[in-house]
Amino acid sequence: MKVLVTGGCGYIGSHTCVELLEAGYEVVVVDNLCNSKKDVIQQIEEITNKKVIFYQGDVCDYALLNKIFAHHEIAAVLHFAGLKAVGESVSQPLRYYRNNIDSTLTLLEVMIKYNCKNIVFSSSATVYGTPKSLPIKEDFPLSTTNPYGSTKLYIEGILKDLYISDNDWNIAILRYFNPIGAHKSGLIGENPNGIPNNLMPYIIKVATGELDYLNIYGNDYDTPDGTGVRDYIHIVDLAKGHIKALDKVLSGSGIDYYNLGTGKGYSVLELVQTFEKVNNVKVPYQVTSRRPGDIAACYADPSYAYDKLGWKAELGIEEMCRDGYNYVIKNK
Ligand code: NAD
Ligand code: UD1
Repeated sequence: MKVLVTGGCGYIGSHTCVELLEAGYEVVVVDNLCNSKKDVIQQIEEITNKKVIFYQGDVCDYALLNKIFAHHEIAAVLHFAGLKAVGESVSQPLRYYRNNIDSTLTLLEVMIKYNCKNIVFSSSATVYGTPKSLPIKEDFPLSTTNPYGSTKLYIEGILKDLYISDNDWNIAILRYFNPIGAHKSGLIGENPNGIPNNLMPYIIKVATGELDYLNIYGNDYDTPDGTGVRDYIHIVDLAKGHIKALDKVLSGSGIDYYNLGTGKGYSVLELVQTFEKVNNVKVPYQVTSRRPGDIAACYADPSYAYDKLGWKAELGIEEMCRDGYNYVIKNK
């Protein structure tokens, strides 16, 4: 059975392609490479010993999508393609709205044309805004504080309206917590160019000596050690969640929403200390002021995904730290 993976060369998409191929799906990828490299396709093929059908191009390009659906009988789409940097979305809101929303509308229109009504969408825990309590459940109130988050919330709304208009759709909306780590092989992973925004890539660049020290954004939060707490999830666990969600969608699920997290929060300091221990490296840091827009703590109640999809995260924080570093060392 063939599935289309938009943004399949990216961090989460590439790990999901591996799991899809290993689960026996045929994989068609469309990616414009605005935040990834074509080599990833070869790496996926090397890990799985299976072929990927790759189209380089934009999901906003109706003619391209039309061509893909005309050539391949696509049973379902996993829609990862999107821009994801929160700070950049504040300074370039129109680019974010245009890319993330236009691509989704174009994709959905072509899916309707080819009567493919099964989709798994990459949303984010960012749609919970400042949660009213912890752990976060799927029925918590939704809000956002930046254009990136707003694109996720709008797309969730678009998908809901689509389902209301036509109950033949099967839609899984996955709200990811904080994916980190890399595939065990060290062939695919995450290593952004420049100065990273997110904690784990920053820690790794300090450990490799590319950056001098980590800035810890505040140690006066209402958390056990004062630093921010997040639900870090191993990227391979997250990827496996997509296979379960896809199976559910293909079984005729209607629309549903799932938190993909571990249910356990770790502080910035705990992550730094675990990283140092398992990789036997030093990560010098200094504490600085809070980052605007950050919340003290955020972690999932992942029990709904377990009950409905039979999925739960298996890998711990040590594997996340080891595998994330291993990828960067191997690809230096
Ligand atoms: P990524 O940037 O590594 O991957 C996204 C991929 O989509 C890239 O390969 C990029 O080239 C491609 N792309 C972007 N716009 C495109 C377009 N218009 N047409 C074709 N290709 C396009 O990001 P990721 O971390 O793998 O995230 C995947 C999805 O998950 C995104 O939608 C992101 O918003 C969402 N998400 C990510 C996180 C995270 O922490 N990484 C958390 C929550 C949600
Ligand atoms: C960020 C995004 C969120 C997105 C998520 C996953 C913001 C405000 N939020 O979430 O929308 O869904 O990434 O990609 O950007 N930290 C430091 N020093 C650093 C970097 C981070 O101390 O150099 C701290 C932060 O204050 C936070 C924790 O580390 O407590 C995690 O930060 P980060 O990795 O950026 O993820 P989120 O803020 O959870």
